[in-house]
Amino acid sequence: MVGMTDTVADVTPEISPSSYDAAQRRSDAIWRKIESDPSGLRMLTGDRPTGALHIGHYFGSLRNRVRLQQAGVETWVIVADYQVITDREILGDIQGSVRELLTDYLAVGIDPERATIFTHSAVPALNQLMLPFLSLVTQPELERNPTVKAELAAAGKSAMGGLMLTYPVHQAADILFCHGNLVPVGQDQLPHLEMTRVIARRFNQRYAPEAPYFPEPDALLAPTPTVLGTDGTKMSKSRGNALMLSATEDETARWVRRAKTDAERHITYDPQGRPEVANLLDLLALATGEDPTLAAERIGDGGAGTLKRELTEALVEHLRPLRERRAAAANPGDDVLEVLRRGNERANELADATLADVRRLMGTDY
Ligand code: TRP
Repeated sequence: MVGMTDTVADVTPEISPSSYDAAQRRSDAIWRKIESDPSGLRMLTGDRPTGALHIGHYFGSLRNRVRLQQAGVETWVIVADYQVITDREILGDIQGSVRELLTDYLAVGIDPERATIFTHSAVPALNQLMLPFLSLVTQPELERNPTVKAELAAAGKSAMGGLMLTYPVHQAADILFCHGNLVPVGQDQLPHLEMTRVIARRFNQRYAPEAPYFPEPDALLAPTPTVLGTDGTKMSKSRGNALMLSATEDETARWVRRAKTDAERHITYDPQGRPEVANLLDLLALATGEDPTLAAERIGDGGAGTLKRELTEALVEHLRPLRERRAAAANPGDDVLEVLRRGNERANELADATLADVRRLMGTDY
């Protein structure tokens, strides 16, 4: 999947193939369970609020979340504001970023009547779980995390900040405070999920040996190609090559027109040899459900012109409901932050209850 922020999206950590395969197998089994009986599944996932999202985020993860929500999986979405300051000093225009993220959520179809959307900073009991959780992991375990290492390198800093080193533990608190057992994530997040599982297991061993208290959550991996921008490099807002989710029909057409192809006229699907053309075919496939190889065969001598015409139409059509929901969310009478206030209230109730249980299990409930 696509990491949800530009910084994370640019990071490709080394994940061992065996742990990736194991997570993939578990995820396949979970997809089957979701289809047959989603009861008892609680999904927790989220994003760093660093600004508006693009179609790479949408096809990589958001669409999947909405699918899970529609299938009846209980949905919790965290706006991870404390994670913004893991690899940068300042929060920037955090109010604006949070509003943009919330508007994108509503546009893609996350339904605040069914899903709980909340922020780190508004849920004190969630943050307090980090203290006992930190006691369950060691410095070498923290330092070994390949995603954290890759993010440190990408941030270009020589010294690791304390929050950067420990944010995977904080992320465990995000997931465990609500007893989330399903985390739809990209490959870059697997090390964090592994840490969450370790923390749950150790907490249970240490403080709840009779009746395990925290679930060991599963990752849900979705097979999605990396979406490229107009210049053929990974789509990222900061590179200026992205098709934003808020794009109008005209902006969508312009983006497709600008997208790089190659000198060969005949269209073929060759992700290795012709990555730019393959990216456009992948996007067409994501929007229409058609197999990209078959689409390539169909278009063939029609060339890049036909491919681009079809892609523009498909994207405009596919993103139409998003534009409609965005317009509805922009109703001047509605404040998008209201959604967050309601979500924060629900998250606080649950976090308070979990912290009370944790204190009881640890014997610190005086
Ligand atoms: N680290 C995730 C990202 O950068 C965002 C995130 C924060 C998250 N807390 C989470 C994802 C809990 C899943 C579960 O994309």
